[in-house]
Amino acid sequence: MSRCVRPLAWALAQAKAGQVLDLDGLPSKQSGRIVTPGTTARTKTCTTRTPEAAASRCKIRDWQVLATFDSELVRVSGAPILLQLGGEEDLSRSVRGTMGVKICCIGAGYVGGPTMAMIALKCPDIEVNVVDISKPRIAAWNSDELPIYEPGLDEVVKACRGKNLFFSTEVERLVAEADIVFVSVNTPTKTSGLGAGKAADLTYWESAARMIADVSKSDKIVVEKSTVPVKTAEAIEKILTHNNKGINFQILSNPEFLAEGTAIEDLQKPDRVLIGGRETPEGQKAVAALKAVYAHWVPEENILTTNLWSAELSKLAANAFLAQRISSINAMSALCEATGADVSEVAYAVGKDSRIGPKFLNASVGFGGSCFQKDILNLVYICECNGLMEVANYWKQVVQINDYQKTRFVRRVVSSMFNTVSGKKVAILGFAFKKDTGDTRETPAIDVCHGLLGDKALLSIYDPQVTEDQIRRDLSMNKFEWDHPQHLQPQSPTTLTKQVSVVWDAYEATKGAHGICVITEWDEFKNLDYQKIYDNMVKPAFIFDGRNVLNMEELRKIGFITYSIGKPLDPWVKDLPAAAN
Ligand code: UDX
Ligand code: ADP
Repeated sequence: MSRCVRPLAWALAQAKAGQVLDLDGLPSKQSGRIVTPGTTARTKTCTTRTPEAAASRCKIRDWQVLATFDSELVRVSGAPILLQLGGEEDLSRSVRGTMGVKICCIGAGYVGGPTMAMIALKCPDIEVNVVDISKPRIAAWNSDELPIYEPGLDEVVKACRGKNLFFSTEVERLVAEADIVFVSVNTPTKTSGLGAGKAADLTYWESAARMIADVSKSDKIVVEKSTVPVKTAEAIEKILTHNNKGINFQILSNPEFLAEGTAIEDLQKPDRVLIGGRETPEGQKAVAALKAVYAHWVPEENILTTNLWSAELSKLAANAFLAQRISSINAMSALCEATGADVSEVAYAVGKDSRIGPKFLNASVGFGGSCFQKDILNLVYICECNGLMEVANYWKQVVQINDYQKTRFVRRVVSSMFNTVSGKKVAILGFAFKKDTGDTRETPAIDVCHGLLGDKALLSIYDPQVTEDQIRRDLSMNKFEWDHPQHLQPQSPTTLTKQVSVVWDAYEATKGAHGICVITEWDEFKNLDYQKIYDNMVKPAFIFDGRNVLNMEELRKIGFITYSIGKPLDPWVKDLPAAAN
């Protein structure tokens, strides 16, 4: 063990971002450049843990603080050394295994951004670069206004950005430099050609794979992070190995299970991390390398390793099972309305069975989000391709019930309001596909709005996290168009300006309205002053709760005519001639 480097630590302690400084006291006087903002090497007694570091001292040209926790990890001439502050505790096994590893994630979206931020936070010894072709998206990741809203994300990003977490559009350079490349790009559903409406369009994946093959000069582990159809790895492997120049690529499947709105919690304490790889010695080595990354914070027993195809299919299966539960309870909600049962009571009673469990049994206007429908359609397509028509039809029903639920909700609204909403103002509270996210991908709000607009309603929409521009784009896009990089989506939506207004306040949205539809379960909707809202509405005033979050008893007392999914029907709604089923 060599004593060090005290001058280097001292220089770190004094240095400021961007400053060029002389590292006095080293055998060969060299200059170093701070490439990260600020540093907090606070002690003057430092030791290096690697003998090589001492040898490399005389070669120091450039260095970089990778993280600042109890210890400082410093990259010197490309080789990392750890400057320990104070004691000489042993480094953990996992940290030793990944020291100096460079990760690059292609795709700075809902999955890539938060996942890489968590890896950077938990692995100060790893440099994490997140790259994207979208300049505005990267600019936003580098600003105070992150491009996605996710509770807790700001803090995580702020803790590591500029230290060991970087966002960049220099895709090719950073991919070339990386040891592990995560790919988290769009995988839209095909809208034309073979498998249209079901199969995944792997255009973006393929172009990412070709680029990796083109720019790579060293061996790489390529990790599928975005959900892809089973056997995608095989196709990617072919692209990579066809173009290789003696470079060894190992493909892993490491599907993400985070849910939006709770992404940080899910990443911090995942139920499981799943890593699938080839069952060859090289494949298993790659699995072990990725496992070492997660082992920084995930207990080993929660890191599952499987073969590639099991990992790919597990992701589709998990999402299909979750969506199936929602379609099951939503199917029950229709029956509850017909029979006078209460869907919340049924869900509670059913969920008390420990074999079934209580989660994911909230009846709703329908599930949304970028994954459920897309993954099930994918599953259906794979089944069909394998001649498993009965299995395909079974899963198709989950999506069909979801569509039925959205249509059923619109019918309830229209039939309750004297069978027409033409020219009537209807307030839409909530546009995101669930609370605590600004994400609108496949949100049931789109179909509900289209249904009401089809009946010539005038919509006044309010969501605390979704911008007017996004809402207008969503309402003018064709099915599946949302799942392309932003610059390839329609940019200036011009339609619907007369029928749709977007406002920044629930009171404004409901003023002068005939009816209110609650589409997203934002907490703030529970605490609105409904007396005030009622007073400002046209009578009779209707409220339709698509999430079962409002206190209907109180709303009825105020004078509202109410409807909640799967709950005993208000006499007004029940006695209507036009049955909404
Ligand atoms: C989902 C999976 O949960 C996650 O593991 C996967 O990685 C990505 O897809 P996400 O789409 O972010 O995550 O949200 P999720 O919480 O699963 O909700 C999906 C939809 O189902 C939302 O529209 C939500 O409102 C709806 N939902 C959920 C219900 O209608 N009822 C429920 O009981 C639960
Ligand atoms: P997810 O929810 O899976 O994270 P997103 O749509 O939020 O999906 O993010 C995917 C990101 O991938 C987008 O920001 C898009 O610009 C980016 N992207 C797509 N193709 C490429 C590519 N070839 N190189 C870099 N980034 C890409």
